[in-house]
Amino acid sequence: MYHGDHANLACLQGRKIAIGVCAGIASYKVCGVVSTLAQAGAEVTVAMTSDAQRFVTPLVFQSLSGRPVLSSVWESAAPADPQHIRAASALDLFLIAPCTMDMLAKLATGRCDDTVSLLAASIDRARTRVLLAPSMNEAMWRQPATQRNLATLRSDGFSVIEPGVGWQACRAVGPGRLPEADELVDAVVAALQASESPRPGT
Ligand SMILES: Cc1cc2nc3c(=O)[nH]c(=O)nc-3n(C[C@H](O)[C@H](O)[C@H](O)COP(=O)(O)O)c2cc1C
Repeated sequence: MYHGDHANLACLQGRKIAIGVCAGIASYKVCGVVSTLAQAGAEVTVAMTSDAQRFVTPLVFQSLSGRPVLSSVWESAAPADPQHIRAASALDLFLIAPCTMDMLAKLATGRCDDTVSLLAASIDRARTRVLLAPSMNEAMWRQPATQRNLATLRSDGFSVIEPGVGWQACRAVGPGRLPEADELVDAVVAALQASESPRPGT
């Protein structure tokens, strides 16, 4: 249940939002995000990497979103209308949460061999913002490769939601915690509102 200001959620009505779920321990928090967005009237499409499906089943996200989950790049692969192209074409926003160390590396190097990175690769980012919510163990977060990939992704125009600092499921304490569901919802709302505001000079 969302504990923030419900008036903020009005802008979600009818918005087409995709959520990419990767194989991070914090994927359970994303169930709350999908539920809140769907209750607020957004059309939510969840895409999951195959390893993410070891943590939370597609059935959970299908039930919460009320829509089919993209769980394999080979599903519904009609030649004229591949699912990732159709899903990407009308999106208002794509949030990847949790975004694993592995997914950061894929996105930073243009790889697209799973449903989440393939959807990201198919989005016209001039009109659809992509938000990344990285989450990982603090040692993984501090790896030069992770920080290098984050710098590349920021300069490529991806928006990064900073992870929190604190207790981690691996019994470490440090940076890399996925923000709570309400904070992720607020980040989605803020990104939608920012993309609606007129740009300077227009
Ligand atoms: C119990 C467990 C928890 C994990 N949690 C994380 C995590 O929070 N963040 C992360 O980057 N990788 C985590 N990993 C490693 C990823 O699951 C692994 O790199 C996986 O191949 C990533 O797949 P994906 O990026 O295709 O979703 C975890 C692995 C295990 C076994």
